[in-house]
Amino acid sequence: AVEDSRRIEPADVLNPFPRYRKMREEHPVNYNEEEKLWVVFRYDDVLRIVNDYNTFSSERVFARRRQDEQLTEEEREAARSLLSTDPPRHKQLRNLISQAFTPRSIAQLTPRITEIVNERLDLVIDQGRMDVVSDLSYPLPVIVISEMLGIPTSDRDQFKRWSDAIVSPHEEEAIQASREMRSYFKGIIDQRRKQPKNDLISDLIASQIDGQHLTEPELLSFCILLLVAGNETTTNLIGNAFLCFDEQPEVMDQMRADQSLIPLAIEEVLRYRSPVQLLVRAVAKDTQIGDQAIQAGEVVVPCLGSANRDEAQFPHSDVFDISRTPNRHVAFGHGIHFCIGAPLARIETKIALTIMLERLTNIRRVREIELEPIKSTFVYGVKHLPVTFKRA
Ligand code: HEM
Repeated sequence: AVEDSRRIEPADVLNPFPRYRKMREEHPVNYNEEEKLWVVFRYDDVLRIVNDYNTFSSERVFARRRQDEQLTEEEREAARSLLSTDPPRHKQLRNLISQAFTPRSIAQLTPRITEIVNERLDLVIDQGRMDVVSDLSYPLPVIVISEMLGIPTSDRDQFKRWSDAIVSPHEEEAIQASREMRSYFKGIIDQRRKQPKNDLISDLIASQIDGQHLTEPELLSFCILLLVAGNETTTNLIGNAFLCFDEQPEVMDQMRADQSLIPLAIEEVLRYRSPVQLLVRAVAKDTQIGDQAIQAGEVVVPCLGSANRDEAQFPHSDVFDISRTPNRHVAFGHGIHFCIGAPLARIETKIALTIMLERLTNIRRVREIELEPIKSTFVYGVKHLPVTFKRA
């Protein structure tokens, strides 16, 4: 009854969906002996876990990692970010940045995002060929979040290496990368303390909770979270969109004819190829999921990628259908930790797709080049996505 992750072939990494289906049917709440955690595959169970934050804690995941011998005390403190706190601290931290991420604030970035997308396309439009990932979907979100934070976009190759390492399954690489990121951000924070600017880092330094400023480890973990959370994910949303369109090229013509379909298509990409496949929670008190009793202290992994393919919630769940309504996917999570960057990810992707469809036609994936999945347990996407096109 135990799923053996060692048996998963590389090709299955980009198609875990038949396996998810089997697990939903046969072992919807499955103990993974090797990793010593429970993986939860059904939509209803996943939703219950993320809504019941008293039983399924985000903070305790971090508390477990605190025992990690490899980390220094300061590093353990820094590992605690918005993502890994429970109420009431969670709400206080979230309030500090929520204003910057409202749909209204984010809408003001439209001209700048449009400019970046056009500049990226100018660089490749004469070639008739581009790599959607390295030419567009990687640089776009990293430039946008760097400008919001107030860090030099010229350092973005470095950010890319760090972000990749942080989501990679190699613990040592991840620790090393977060050390380097912390010392990088320490330098920036020192500069902004002396000379505040009109950016998110200066705002965070100035902000207070009950009369107290954030500690340096808290500031650092905020910066790192914002840089990493938005990067890998939005890059993959745009890349995954083209994986979906590769299966159904006519969707691109439909969107060109009626641009109001673009936001619907993006929601369906989020459901069908969710950029974040898994979340992690630690069980705070004994509980039950389905017919499995689960004890306090155990780790539970809600599988968003599987919830989003659950036939009980989404009829014909394995069909990519941009007209699907309702489409209550959980690709951005749900409840108190619902992705704060969702409006940003949506607008970047909408502008990227709109401009690509306006300026390019006959966009086709170069099928001779095999798709290479990103090396990560949590993140779903491809490293490169070469396409050919004609100028519109
Ligand atoms: C939280 C997915 C883009 C910042 C989350 C969560 C998910 C998610 C599933 C919930 C985590 C949990 O419950 O444990 C995504 C996807 C994205 C995306 C699929 C793109 C397609 C972004 C962007 C930013 C961002 C652009 C910001 C620049 C955050 C932050 C949290 C979060 C700060 C923590 C919120 C909290 O704990 O209250 N994201 N994200 N994300 N995301 Fe995103």
